[in-house]
Amino acid sequence: MLLAIETSCDETGVALFSEDGSFIKHLLYSQVALHSPFGGIVPEIASRKQLEVLPHLINQLLKETYTDIKQIKAIAVTFGPGLIGSLLVGVSFAKALSWALKVPLIKIDHLEAHLSAIFLEKEVKFPFIGLLVSGGHTALFLVESFEDFKLLGHTRDDAAGEAFDKVAKLLNLGYPGGPKISELAEKGNRKAINFPRPLLEDPVLDFSFSGLKTAVLNYLKINPDFKVEDVCASFEDAVCEVLIKKTLKASKKFKIPRIVVAGGVASNKRLRELFLEEGQKNSIEVYFPSAEFCTDNGAMVGVLGWYKWKSKNFASLEDEPYARAKFKKYKY
Ligand code: KG4
Ligand code: ZN
Repeated sequence: MLLAIETSCDETGVALFSEDGSFIKHLLYSQVALHSPFGGIVPEIASRKQLEVLPHLINQLLKETYTDIKQIKAIAVTFGPGLIGSLLVGVSFAKALSWALKVPLIKIDHLEAHLSAIFLEKEVKFPFIGLLVSGGHTALFLVESFEDFKLLGHTRDDAAGEAFDKVAKLLNLGYPGGPKISELAEKGNRKAINFPRPLLEDPVLDFSFSGLKTAVLNYLKINPDFKVEDVCASFEDAVCEVLIKKTLKASKKFKIPRIVVAGGVASNKRLRELFLEEGQKNSIEVYFPSAEFCTDNGAMVGVLGWYKWKSKNFASLEDEPYARAKFKKYKY
C-alpha cells in the first residue's frame, strides 16, 4: 500500500492507496477553528499542531483500515510549496518512516496534487487546462501529463481565496471568508456594485486581486450604509468573471476543450454554476472535484504519489521541502 501525507499549511491529511491504485481511505484534521480568532493562519501555531496531530492521524488511518504498518510499501508526501514549518513536519515524518520501513519516499508538489485530485472521482483526458484557486495560490496550468505541468500564469499579488478572506475581514464576517461571502451573496444583487475586473482584457494569463479588495474597501468607506449581501454578491461575481474568462482564454488559445478547476475556492457554488454554463456555451468540458477534495487533503497527494511510485520516480532522503512555488512561467 501507499501512504500519502499532506501538511503544507493548516490541514493534516493522510490517505491510503492499494498497490493497484485504488483509493482506500483518507482522514483530514483541520485547524481552522484554532486560527479563526486571529483572522488568518498563524504559521507557528500551524506547525506545532501538525506535529501533535500527524502521528495520531496515521495511527487512526491504519487502525480504521486494519492495516499493519509493514504493509506500507511507499510513502508520498508534500514537499512544497507552503508554510516551511508545517512542511517540515510531514517531510521529516515521511523520511523517518521511509528509512525505518526501507520503502521509497515520493516527493509531491502541492499545486500538482490539487490539480490531480480530480482523478479520485473522474477520468479526465490529458491535456487539460488546470485552474488552481486556493487561499495561497491562483494559477493557470497546461497539464500535459502527471509529469508535465506548464505554468501559464499566476496571480501578481493576492490569491483568489485570500481576496475572499480579506474582503470577509473588511465586512467582519470572520475567517475563512469564502464560504461566508458565498452564503451572503446568494441573497444579494450581483449587479448592485460594479467592482473592477483586474487584468480581464490583458492578453497575459495572469491575475491580480489586490486592487479589487481595495475597491471594496473604498466602496465601504464611501457608502457606510452598504448592504452586505450586495457587496458580497457583486464582489463574488467580479472574482468569478475574471477566473472564468481567463481560463476560457487559455482553453481557446491552446485549443484544449477541457478544464479542471481545483483548490479551496473551487468549492464556490457560483463559480461552479457560471463555469459550467460558460463551458456548455463554448463546448468545453469543465471538471470540479467534490468539495471534500477541493481543500487540502491527503488523497490528492496519493493520486500523484501512486503514479510516481509505479514510474519509480523516487525522492532522496537529502531532498528538502520548499516554501515557494517551483514553477517558471512557460513561454507561449
Ligand atoms: O485549498 P485551500 O483549502 O487551502 C489552501 O491551500 O489555500 O483553500 C482555502 C481557501 C480560503 O481562502 C477560503 O476562503 C477559500 O479557499 N474558500 C472559498 C470557499 N470555500 C473555501 N472561497 C470562495 N467560496 C467558497 N465556497
Ligand atoms: Zn492547497
